[in-house]
Amino acid sequence: MNKEIHVSVSILAEDFSALGEVLKTVEDAGGDSVHLDVIDGVFAPNLSFGPVVIKGIRKLTSLPLHAHLMIKDPEKYLEDYINVGCSNIYFHLESEGSPKNIINKIHEMNAKCGIVLNPDTSADTVKPYLKQIDSVLIMSVHPGFSGQKFIPEVLKKIKKLREISTELDIAVDGGINDETIDSVLNSGANVIIANSYVFSSSDRARAIRQLKGYK
Ligand code: DX5
Ligand code: ZN
Repeated sequence: MNKEIHVSVSILAEDFSALGEVLKTVEDAGGDSVHLDVIDGVFAPNLSFGPVVIKGIRKLTSLPLHAHLMIKDPEKYLEDYINVGCSNIYFHLESEGSPKNIINKIHEMNAKCGIVLNPDTSADTVKPYLKQIDSVLIMSVHPGFSGQKFIPEVLKKIKKLREISTELDIAVDGGINDETIDSVLNSGANVIIANSYVFSSSDRARAIRQLKGYK
């Protein structure tokens, strides 16, 4: 597997009164995209932000915006996220609605589509959709909050999916830091999502290089 490693930086736990600085930090540190955690307080226990805030974020950075929808009914709101400038939409297989319709809608609007699996959801559930999607996102924490501990059992799932496909982008989200990154990369993931590790590092550019596998 020689796919380039992409680091997408989540801003979920950052200071939203200083979003311009937060996004500049991501750019200056060498983040490849901004990971936007949209949480409705129903699908997952937390309430974050939606399209109105993302519309503002779009004006503050030139980095690609990836929306991670942790919401009950993603199909209903897809267009809103694409219209405000998200180029990648990740939706959970555990949410409501028809995955096939959701995938088609996202692609019709020329965005990329990723399916997210919670830690307890098996790799088999996503198999029927693998040919139609651009990526699978493996949650390595339960959705809702930044700063949680990595669940090592998900590594098997990453390996299994990488065995099935060398083409697919495999993203991992939650609890990724200098201690957990090696196992994640060795299992075959190529899109690394991180919030607390990047922002808590004194040298954020170095933190991102570490997440790309540089020693
Ligand atoms: C959790 C979110 C993650 C989270 C990652 O529901 O999907 O993107 O912000 O934060 P860290 O890297 O701190 O685990
Ligand atoms: Zn996320």
